[in-house]
Formats: sequence, structure tokens, C-alpha cells
Amino acid sequence: MSDTSRILVIDDEKNYLMVMQALLMDAGYEVTALNDPEMALHFLEESEVDVVITDMKMPRLSGKEVLQSVKKSWPDLPVLIMTAFGSIESAVEAMRYGAFDYITKPFANDEMLLSVHNAVELSKAHRQYKLLQESLEERYSTHQIIGRSKAIRDTLSIVDRVALSRSTVLVTGESGTGKELVARAIHFTSPRKEGPFVSVNCMAFNSGVLESELFGHEKGSFTGAVATRRGRFEQADHGTLFLDEIGELSMDLQVKLLRVLQERVFERVGGTESISVDIRVVAATNRDLAKMVEEGTFREDLFYRLNVVHIPIPPLRERREDIPLLVAHFGEKIAEDNGIPVKAFSSEAQNYLTGYDWPGNIRQLQNVLERCMVMVPGNIIGVEDLPPEIRGEESQFKSAVDLLPVELNLADTLDRIEAALIKRALVRADFVQAHAAELLGISRSLMQYKLKKYNITGH
Ligand SMILES: Nc1ncnc2c1ncn2[C@@H]1O[C@H](COP(=O)(O)OP(=O)(O)OP(=O)(O)O)[C@@H](O)[C@H]1O
Ligand SMILES: [Mg+2]
Repeated sequence: MSDTSRILVIDDEKNYLMVMQALLMDAGYEVTALNDPEMALHFLEESEVDVVITDMKMPRLSGKEVLQSVKKSWPDLPVLIMTAFGSIESAVEAMRYGAFDYITKPFANDEMLLSVHNAVELSKAHRQYKLLQESLEERYSTHQIIGRSKAIRDTLSIVDRVALSRSTVLVTGESGTGKELVARAIHFTSPRKEGPFVSVNCMAFNSGVLESELFGHEKGSFTGAVATRRGRFEQADHGTLFLDEIGELSMDLQVKLLRVLQERVFERVGGTESISVDIRVVAATNRDLAKMVEEGTFREDLFYRLNVVHIPIPPLRERREDIPLLVAHFGEKIAEDNGIPVKAFSSEAQNYLTGYDWPGNIRQLQNVLERCMVMVPGNIIGVEDLPPEIRGEESQFKSAVDLLPVELNLADTLDRIEAALIKRALVRADFVQAHAAELLGISRSLMQYKLKKYNITGH
């Protein structure tokens, strides 16, 4: 796109057209001058124009009609109206229909040019805004990672930074936290995005099968190897290989994987030819690999090879402020997928969703929402519609009396109630600790002490 702004001038009077064209071209604009408004509308369909200037009074199609057509198809395109001196009413009317400005003929050149200049600026601003919006949308649609917590923002910024490199990435987090989503985001924002994203679940196969799954095999290398087969490493050439549940890899395969990561070459099972591939590896696990290294079940050298860039994804209960966003996001998605209207949660039900600990993280949240949206007949989902585990015994929103199991002593019970109240205050305060402390009527330092004591994290 060139920097020159393009202007379309429409006037049935050829003399005026020529004057306008000359003036605007002198001012550095690219100008198309047409004396037939219908043709001008066709022209707009096919060309990119920044500003339209149209005469008001024309046979066949008036300036007002041109204005209306333009506003209908290109609401952001500024239109300037030219009216003959003395027909101010029609100019005022045109403004009401969304004209950007009007110029009365005969006009002073500099006034006309000033008005055009302003219209061009507006047009540019619109265009810039649109570009920004598109890039945001694109970013959102490639990532599909929803969240405003610091944890999620940090994750996205690591994804962006690591995407350009070929560094191996280790994604860790509890089950259902979004490890695979992050792996895909890395691939689809990287220069390899046109290449394949190949995923292998290391837990899904026994060690022997996994080896040929990863590296492929030569025909006849074992019973059942009736044909030569390319493994996932080869399939992922020029793309990304996602090794899920890497903590489940046998010691034997850990050695083999280490070699590929170091040398980027391998042989098919039963083969002698060295195959080299250009891949980026992203590995994921919900196990504590460092601890496995200590215990001697995971090779230390492989751990360091994988752990070049580490993306830890915290569980949902440590970033509760993301819950309302996820609820809204999945709510819309589920409604669309099932062809049902979006249903809202009552504010009390929302509180339960935000306060629940979500051991199954985002996947569990997704399932609960789907069940509620599909099963509840009305448009509002209330607390009574939530699954028992969410409004159940463990919920921090039950009344204090309900929380009193006979076998617990007073101190323990009061601690539980206190912890529950603190969590509730945090949710109400949108996770601003100072505000939550205020709601509870306690000092900030006491609040901090209690958060530590009950091991409560908001972010
Ligand atoms: N931040 C997020 N925004 C939107 N959707 C998310 C987010 N995180 C996870 N999801 C969705 O939650 C579901 C579970 O995510 P994913 O499969 O990536 O988790 P995982 O960590 O790989 O789980 P597991 O350990 O069980 O394999 C997917 O449907 C994913 O799209
Ligand atoms: Mg997964």
C-alpha cells in the first residue's frame, strides 16, 4: 500500500471535476475524477479509496444517494459533500446522513484542502485501528489462549519470544492446564507454522512400539514390520514435534531421544541409514522432572536438553481471575457449537465457579460448562444447576454451620471458615489483596500473614 492517499471526486460538471482534480493532485493526492455517480460506486467496489468527495446535485443519482450507498457498504469511509452556494439545507441534511463535512461552491482552495486533509486523517486513523484490531484478532485466534492473569500474560510473552527460535521448550503443568494449547501456539506463531505439527503421546504406547512410532522402521525389522514406515521425527521435518507426557519415557528411549536432540540424526528401527531432520521439539509433562532426576528415573542430561526454555503453567486455582473470562469464552463457544443460545450464570453461581479449586483445571471447567449449558433449560444457570462437587462440601461458600463436621476441633474448623472467607473476599475484590483486606476489615499485613498461613494464592 502506497502512502499517497487516494481520493475519488464525483461531479457531473466536467469543469469542476478538472479544477478539483488539479488542485488535489497539486496537493499530493492520487485522484480519480468521475462524472457518473453510478460508475463511481462501481469504481469503489474495485478500488481502495481513502476519501470520497461528491457533488450534491446531480442528475440520476444525487449526492445524498451516493452518500447513503457509501455509508452502507463502507461505513468508515469519509464523504465530503460539495453544494452550490445557497443550498445549505441540503448540506446540513447530508451531515445528518453521515457526511464528514461539506464544501460550498465556489470555495476557497485552502479551506477545501483543509477539509480534505482532515477527512484523509480520519480515514488513515480508521485504517490503522482496523489493522490493529485484525492483528489482535489474529493473535487471539492463533493462540486461543484466554486469560488476563500475570501467569498467562507471562506465558504468552515467552511463547512470542521463543517462537522465532528453534530452542527446545519444556511445558509443565497439571493435567488440563493447557500444555498442548501452548505447544500449538508456539508452533503456529513460529516461522515453521506452514510445516507440520506432529504430536506423540509417550504414555500411549509401550516402549517398543513407541520407538518405531518415533523413529520409524525398516521393512522386516520385526515381525509385523511389513513395510518401511516413517516415524514421527521424519513426519515433523520442517515443523514441530510435540512430545507429550515426556515423563513416561523409558530409560532406554531417553538415551535415544537425547542423541537425536544432540545430533539431530537418527536411524529407523532396523535401519542403518542416518536420517537428519529439521525440527523443533516441544515436550510436556505433568510430572516433576527435576524430582525424577533426583530419584534416578529421568536422565539428568536429557532433562537439561529439554529444559532449554521452561514454560510452567500454573493451575487454574492459582489464577482465579481468569475463570470469569474462560467462562464467557467457553459459554459462547459451547452455544455456537451446539446451536443453542448463550446462557448466563447467576452471580452467585459465578462466585461458586470462581471459588472452586478445579483439580482438573481448564478441561474440567470446560466440561462443567458444557454440561450446564446443554442440560439447563432456562437462560440463567443458578447455583442449584451446578454439579454437586462445585457446590458441595468442599465449597468455601457453604454457610459456616454446614462446614462444621463433628469430628473437627474448634480451631481447625475456624481456620477453615477463615480461609473460606478470605478466598471469598479475594474473589469479590477481583484479587486485589488490599481491597480484600478492607472488605474483611483487617490490615494488609494481617491479610498477607493469613494468605501465607492458608497457602492461598490469587495470582
Ligand atoms: N488459557 C486457555 N484459554 C482457552 N482454552 C484453554 C486454555 N487453556 C486450556 N484450554 C483448553 O482446555 C483444554 C485442555 O487443554 P490442553 O489439552 O492443552 O491441556 P493439557 O495441559 O495438555 O492437559 P493434559 O495434561 O490432560 O494433557 C483444551 O480444550 C484447551 O483448548
Ligand atoms: Mg495434553
